[in-house]
Amino acid sequence: MQLHVNGKEYSIEVSGNTTLLTTLREHLDLTGSKYGCGEGVCGACTVLINGVPVRSCITPVGSVQNKEITTIEGLEQNGKLHPVQEAFLEVDPFQCAYCASGMVMSSVALLNRNPSPSKQEIMDAMQSNICRCCTYPDLVEAIVKSIKK
Ligand code: FES
Ligand code: FES
Repeated sequence: MQLHVNGKEYSIEVSGNTTLLTTLREHLDLTGSKYGCGEGVCGACTVLINGVPVRSCITPVGSVQNKEITTIEGLEQNGKLHPVQEAFLEVDPFQCAYCASGMVMSSVALLNRNPSPSKQEIMDAMQSNICRCCTYPDLVEAIVKSIKK
C-alpha cells in the first residue's frame, strides 16, 4: 500500500482494514497520535486527511490511500514549529498532555478553515476533543494566541 504522510511517500505491507492509527504508530513509527478511547470519541488520535481532521482510530488505512495525511510530526517545517504549536508551548495549557496531539491537530484544522474564530467558535469546534485533565480554558487561550501569530 502506498501512503503519503507528512510530505513523504511510504510503501508498506498492511491490511486495508488496519486502522490508520495503528499503521502510523506501529508501521511508520509516528507515535505522536495517541490511542485514547479507540471509538472515535475522544480525539486523541486526530490527524488531518487532505486538511480535514479525522479520527485515525476508526479510519481504515485502505480508505486514505492517495490522500495527504498529516500528523503532529508533520506540522514543523524547516525546523520551525507551526504557529499553533508555538502558542501551545507559550501558554502551556496541558497537565498530562495525553490529549495534546489531538488538540493541536484539531486547532490547526479549525484555523485552516476559519483563520479568525471567536471564542464561541473555538469552543464549538473543540468540544469533541476530550481532555481528562479539564484544561479547557487554557486550551482556548492557546488557540486565541495562535490566531495572533
Ligand atoms: S482514540 Fe480515536 S477518538 Fe479516541
Ligand atoms: S492534559 Fe491530560 S488529558 Fe488533556
